[in-house]
Amino acid sequence: MERQRSFSLSLSLPLKSTLLLTFFSLLASSLLIFFSFSFWIFTSTPTLILQQTHLHFNSTPTTPLTVQTLPGLVEPADRTDSSSKDSILIGALFEERGNATGSVEWTVLQQVPEEEEDEGKEDDDDEVQERMADAVTAANDTVPLEIREEAVKESGRCDLMNGSWVYDEGYPLYTNATCPYIDEGFDCDGNGRKDKSYMKLRWRPHTCEMPRFNATSMLQMMRGKRVVFVGDSINRNQWESLLCMLLGGVKDRSRVYETRGRKITKEKGNYSFRFVDYMCTVEFYVSHFLVHEGKVRIGQKRVQTLRIDKIDHGSSRWRGADIVVFNTGSWWSHYKTKAGINYYQEGSMVHPRLDVSTAFRKALITWASWVDSRINPRKTRVFFRSISPSHFRGGQWNSGGHCGEATQPLDLPPSEEFHEKNAIIRDVIRRMRVPVEFLDITSLSEYRIDGHPSIYGGGGKSKRRQSSAIQDCSHWCLPGVPDTWNELLYVHLLGSRHR
Ligand SMILES: *[C@@H]1O[C@H](CO)[C@@H](O)[C@H](O)[C@H]1NC(C)=O
Ligand SMILES: *[C@@H]1O[C@H](CO)[C@@H](O)[C@H](O)[C@H]1NC(C)=O
Ligand SMILES: *[C@@H]1O[C@H](CO)[C@@H](O)[C@H](O)[C@H]1NC(C)=O
Ligand SMILES: *[C@@H]1O[C@H](CO)[C@@H](O)[C@H](O)[C@H]1NC(C)=O
Ligand SMILES: *[C@@H]1O[C@H](CO)[C@@H](O)[C@H](O)[C@H]1NC(C)=O
Ligand SMILES: *[C@@H]1O[C@H](CO)[C@@H](O)[C@H](O)[C@H]1NC(C)=O
Repeated sequence: MERQRSFSLSLSLPLKSTLLLTFFSLLASSLLIFFSFSFWIFTSTPTLILQQTHLHFNSTPTTPLTVQTLPGLVEPADRTDSSSKDSILIGALFEERGNATGSVEWTVLQQVPEEEEDEGKEDDDDEVQERMADAVTAANDTVPLEIREEAVKESGRCDLMNGSWVYDEGYPLYTNATCPYIDEGFDCDGNGRKDKSYMKLRWRPHTCEMPRFNATSMLQMMRGKRVVFVGDSINRNQWESLLCMLLGGVKDRSRVYETRGRKITKEKGNYSFRFVDYMCTVEFYVSHFLVHEGKVRIGQKRVQTLRIDKIDHGSSRWRGADIVVFNTGSWWSHYKTKAGINYYQEGSMVHPRLDVSTAFRKALITWASWVDSRINPRKTRVFFRSISPSHFRGGQWNSGGHCGEATQPLDLPPSEEFHEKNAIIRDVIRRMRVPVEFLDITSLSEYRIDGHPSIYGGGGKSKRRQSSAIQDCSHWCLPGVPDTWNELLYVHLLGSRHR
């Protein structure tokens, strides 16, 4: 159409005009190419690594300093020093100077780690500084983090993962009475749990303040988008938490509904809630392993196997999301994977025996290549939530393990128990073409032995549950710990709104 018009136009015009026209259209298209290239550069470099940034201010600021988080920070996989490895956001150093010119100078200390394989992502300092300058401007109107100056002067960085749980009267953000989406397994309050402090704790990083969750601005960021959670029941836990948190920003509750009228239960795996006023959906698709759970005939018997080389059949429904949060982890246990004996399948081969870490890595690589080939990083923000810690004391989940006596968080995160799987996830993510943001909730959640349903996860069956030996020390009460995970998700989204 366009072409035809310009063609007929040039025919009716003198030669000179034709040349002029050609010149301008050439100019226009090269400008277009230039801009789309710049845009591509800009959008395709979110894995840029800036571990630490120095801020030199030439004045003594009277207002709190704000810094902007950088999109898509990925840390090196080695985890000897957990403070730097666990931080998903940059550390920023504020140095006060006696002068009053107010100029800002960014010094990049460390960038792209050696392992970064994509040469295209190498940036020179000028470009980095430019982007940092953009970030400063953006910080002005998003104000994602408020640095506590005294603390920063001591530690020199803002590490969101380094913090503690503090009592906050402003919590919880919702209750079982204001949110109808808490399913009975997570509704500890409704199931008779008497202590309440587990829902009144706020995660407080030592060197900065996390912005308070604002449902309205979260919904504004989600306008017109599909937000999708894919994973196991702990991702359902987080997804329900987000639904409840978002309801706080909705005036007319009747304008939020499940698109097929489904009620949330443990059994069904597909849900899509529509927030009509924001034209967005918040969806959940169950996938315990992210790869395909299949059946194969061995001799006379059909046995269940896990196709670690094949993505879950539900994957077509994950495509086209604008924000997607994946997880897998809890099901990779000896018990649920038949101890790795005749369970893991690749092609037509069923491994007689395979250890869970190897299988986990292979499955993640299968997932990663699906993401790399099917997801457009310009459309979709991809998150992977780290392993959610469980707290079974004195036994396993099925052998009398318990957590029900805890009403306070632990003093210290107790273990390295969940770190091996996290290290595998980080390692796989680091090699991907599509940038994946690692939502690291493991260590902050490790304190929260008090946050599980324990005997209050049973709902209607609570009498039986309360008298049986089985406690739920792996899921989380709502309101509760997953609310904080969503606050972190919110910080991530705020941090790169201007990308
Ligand atoms: C956490 O921050 C505190 C205070 O800023 C500091 O003393 C401590 O070393 C940090 N811990 C880690 C693991 O980084
Ligand atoms: C103050 O600013 C002047 C010039 O603007 C500079 O030479 C001096 O080093 C600065 N002093 C400090 C403490 O930064
Ligand atoms: C931030 O906003 C204030 C006004 O709100 C403006 O004076 C200042 O120049 C802005 N700073 C930056 C770095 O954009
Ligand atoms: C919510 O929890 C309270 C206890 O705090 C309980 O009395 C009430 O029945 C629960 N409501 C629902 C709808 O479950
Ligand atoms: C939440 O965000 C909205 C829109 O950005 C803003 O109008 C409102 O004042 C914010 N609420 C709070 C409590 O900050
Ligand atoms: C999800 O929906 C798809 C298509 O509607 C269906 O094929 C699939 O079985 C559903 N999965 C679950 C777990 O409900």
